[in-house]
Amino acid sequence: MLVACAEKFTINGAFRLENHNNSPNCMINGILKRYKEYLPITGDTPIFTIGEGDTPLVESANISDSIGCASLHFKLEGCNPTGSFKDRGMVVAVAKALERGVKSIACASTGNTSASAAAYGAYCGLKTTLIVPKGNVARGKLAQAVAYGAHIAIVDGSFDKALEIARELCLKHPIELVNSVNPNRIEGQKTAAFEIVEDLGDAPDHLFIPVGNAGNIVAYWKGFVESRRREDCNKLPILNGYQAEGAAPIVIGKPVDFPETVASAIRIGNPASWAKAVSARDESGGIIDSVTDDEILAAYRLLASKEGVFCEPASAASVAGLLKQAKSGIDFSGKKIVCVLTGNGLKDPDIANEIEPTSIGEYAAELESVEEALSLA
Ligand code: F0G
Repeated sequence: MLVACAEKFTINGAFRLENHNNSPNCMINGILKRYKEYLPITGDTPIFTIGEGDTPLVESANISDSIGCASLHFKLEGCNPTGSFKDRGMVVAVAKALERGVKSIACASTGNTSASAAAYGAYCGLKTTLIVPKGNVARGKLAQAVAYGAHIAIVDGSFDKALEIARELCLKHPIELVNSVNPNRIEGQKTAAFEIVEDLGDAPDHLFIPVGNAGNIVAYWKGFVESRRREDCNKLPILNGYQAEGAAPIVIGKPVDFPETVASAIRIGNPASWAKAVSARDESGGIIDSVTDDEILAAYRLLASKEGVFCEPASAASVAGLLKQAKSGIDFSGKKIVCVLTGNGLKDPDIANEIEPTSIGEYAAELESVEEALSLA
């Protein structure tokens, strides 16, 4: 059991937590240990992991043909311990908070940040407070937060309003804000770019990524730029960020008061990292564009049915963006492409239940009736 190799103790009144990762009980390195030299880690930073990072980069089996590219890979961030990319940044943010003796963390969230904060808070014995917009968090994510034992405040307003409240709460009380405005979150999230470079042997030509509060696109860019500076890669990717059409403030150039999209994770009208995302986009020579809910859901279904990858709707915005560009006639021949799939499909069972089954029915519990159903009789 992972917890068995964690040891909590107090030095000079400060909460400390360390893993003995050389114990046979801890087979994984985690972000803090693996990328120690590239993260803001000091001798006083507790090193621990609940299994974040080292996510698969899976080669496309079917979609790549319609794109006409040299290669297409999916970075499966839904394989992180709480089912989304947030864990990479959360482990760094929580470790740095523990280093300073923090006892309580908080965030606003459309669901994934809150699930991640709650999990790391639980592991580290911290009080975790989540401020989430009413009716705007997918059921699986809320279930996670409840299971991890977080204190949950559901507010009657958008994510943007919830973030405003979380910021004020953390200014007023001794609580650490673990949203992506916390620079340690970005530090952790940049490690996904390191892994892509390690797996491909270079940066891809194009990176496609969903954009919500806009921290992740900034983190990836930071990761690629640092990899390039270390000469781990020979080039930098062109960033292609995608917002949902009903929640596309960066695309239309002004905040959206009532953001609306089926992709609840990116239902955000005034991204906190807006300016940094625009800089990253421009430095890479890329774009931030939008895709419709229909395009998102088509990509979501295609990924599951043709690639065996079940991601959440917001994640599918990256692939929807790629398909949109290919359809518009952009030539990707010779190009290596990576689409970031940010979260697991099980997070949002309500949307999943709307998928039309290929074949489903109830039959008598006999071989003959099942054979008949499958036209094998
Ligand atoms: N994909 C998923 C599954 C997300 O949960 C988010 C953001 C994004 C993409 C966009 O990333 O905000 O860094 O641009 N979710 C946040 C949350 C807002 O509260 O869980 P971003």
